[in-house]
Amino acid sequence: MNVTLELVADYIANSRKIAVLTGAGISAESGVPTFRAHGQSKSAQAPLWEKYDPSELASASGFKRHPDLVWQWYDWRRNLVENVSPNAGHHALATLEKLHAPRTFTLITQNVDRLHHRAESQNILEMHGNIVSFRCFDHHHQAAEVERNLQSPPRCNDGQCHSKLRPNVVWFGESLNPAVLNAAMAAARQCDLFLAIGTSALVQPAASLPYIAREQGAKLVEINLERTALSENVDAFLQGRSGDVLPSLVDLVKAHPRPV
Ligand code: OAD
Repeated sequence: MNVTLELVADYIANSRKIAVLTGAGISAESGVPTFRAHGQSKSAQAPLWEKYDPSELASASGFKRHPDLVWQWYDWRRNLVENVSPNAGHHALATLEKLHAPRTFTLITQNVDRLHHRAESQNILEMHGNIVSFRCFDHHHQAAEVERNLQSPPRCNDGQCHSKLRPNVVWFGESLNPAVLNAAMAAARQCDLFLAIGTSALVQPAASLPYIAREQGAKLVEINLERTALSENVDAFLQGRSGDVLPSLVDLVKAHPRPV
């Protein structure tokens, strides 16, 4: 019996409001490369953009300098994420949300791959937007359908706009959507249990959410392959792949008597 796993299942079963923060690690088992792992993103299919620092391309100035290259990079990434499937970790979080109902469960993700949506989680906050929907660069008009495999960004067809389309992601140097950020902060402040899963907990403001939760008295749990900057501060650290740990937790929560 894993004592820490039992303890966390107990936290989950007895909590009223759960907030979860996920990062690239939860999608790793689906085949989406994480951000800070070395050498994983090298691919023969992506020779052009790999000559560049991703933070240079993932920015408004990068898009202005190299619109075609940035468009093709995101097109490649969109194809990648649409051709993989949610893994056992994504599915386990969707199940936990159902098991927890009608109590509050907020899933805050830094991921832009939409895999939590495809696993049918419901209450999702995408802190960094997503790469499968688009808006225009100048006026933020949302685009409906966008063709694949284009060499250059298509133009907005809202009235006379004609501005270039860009993905609905938050680029380096850009502010987060204030409504999403406020909702994430509120979830962190109000929860009594916070789970940080598959994130290096380095990129702000997402990295501050576990600390906000803890300051308000929430229990803090981390699930990760390895220890991170956050690990010293948690009530429980579950080391392992989220696709293994989360389904085991779900099994324990299912077997747990519900509090009255
Ligand atoms: P990182 O790549 O920084 O961290 C991924 C974390 O997942 C690491 O701590 C790994 O140890 C862990 N990990 C890897 N595989 C795992 C697995 N199978 N199970 C559990 N843990 C695993 O990714 P993020 O923390 O998501 O921002 O990075 C945050 C932000 O930095 C991203 O959203 C992106 C980037 O700049 C934007 O694009 C705006």
